[in-house]
Amino acid sequence: MEDVPLSSVTECDGAVRAPPHDNIKDGEAHGTSRVANTMSSASAVICHLILVAFTLYIVILCFNDSYKLFLWHPSLMTIGGFLLMAEAVMAMSQDNPICGRFGRSSRIQIHWILQALAASFIYIGFLVIVINKNLNNKHHFHTWHSIFGLITVIMVGMTSSGGVGALYSVRTKEFIRPALIKLIHNIAGIITYFFGAICMILSMYSDWFTTRESHSNATQVICILLIVLSSVFTLQSAARSAYLKIIQNCSRH
Ligand code: HEM
Repeated sequence: MEDVPLSSVTECDGAVRAPPHDNIKDGEAHGTSRVANTMSSASAVICHLILVAFTLYIVILCFNDSYKLFLWHPSLMTIGGFLLMAEAVMAMSQDNPICGRFGRSSRIQIHWILQALAASFIYIGFLVIVINKNLNNKHHFHTWHSIFGLITVIMVGMTSSGGVGALYSVRTKEFIRPALIKLIHNIAGIITYFFGAICMILSMYSDWFTTRESHSNATQVICILLIVLSSVFTLQSAARSAYLKIIQNCSRH
């Protein structure tokens, strides 16, 4: 990645952006940035399509099965932990084809509403699996999926509470710098989503998924590839924003 001069990181309507590259000729810079913008908008559209298609696939798989309490776990977790959490992360990005046209304060509002919805789905999905295991006298937290799942559930709670701190960071500025709270929330969000993605990948090895009629090694590989691809797209905008916030925080010292 190219070095961005610390002194020239700009802040515009609260959003941190990298400066234009002065040493590149105007036409070249425009051409390059147009190609880069088109590519990142195209990858955002592909990412939304993957998220919706994969979520529909899991929900349809669940409700094609004979009804069991357990089925609410994969369906709610996929909607909350995969689709809504990714949409909440991407809502903050200017490359987002839907939210990118709104101002920063509207994007923040969309972000916390989606994240609150995602957390509600995740907590209900967690409650379902714990109750279901108790009803069937099964051990808790005995598989990699369940251990990563528990970590994700705890981190969702912590990151969401941190988000409330970031939202009202101006009110606590005497104790901690708003830019620092926002950076911590940004990094915590990336780690939480990362754990959620690992958990989704591990769920593709669960007994429930591997005993579906539609299951084959090819379906498993395609599903894992879709999870990895959409997670990379989702996290790259959040990682870029964290990088710029780190530069901004460092340049203040
Ligand atoms: C981000 C999404 C998800 C999270 C955070 C998550 C979390 C969890 C947790 C914490 C448990 C263990 C509960 C206990 O031991 O009391 C669990 C169990 C389980 N989950 Fe998920 N889950 C997610 C998505 C999924 C999906 C999409 C599927 C199916 C495709 C699934 C299938 C299962 C199964 C079969 C179990 C019971 C067996 C086991 O403990 O590994 N989960 N999940």
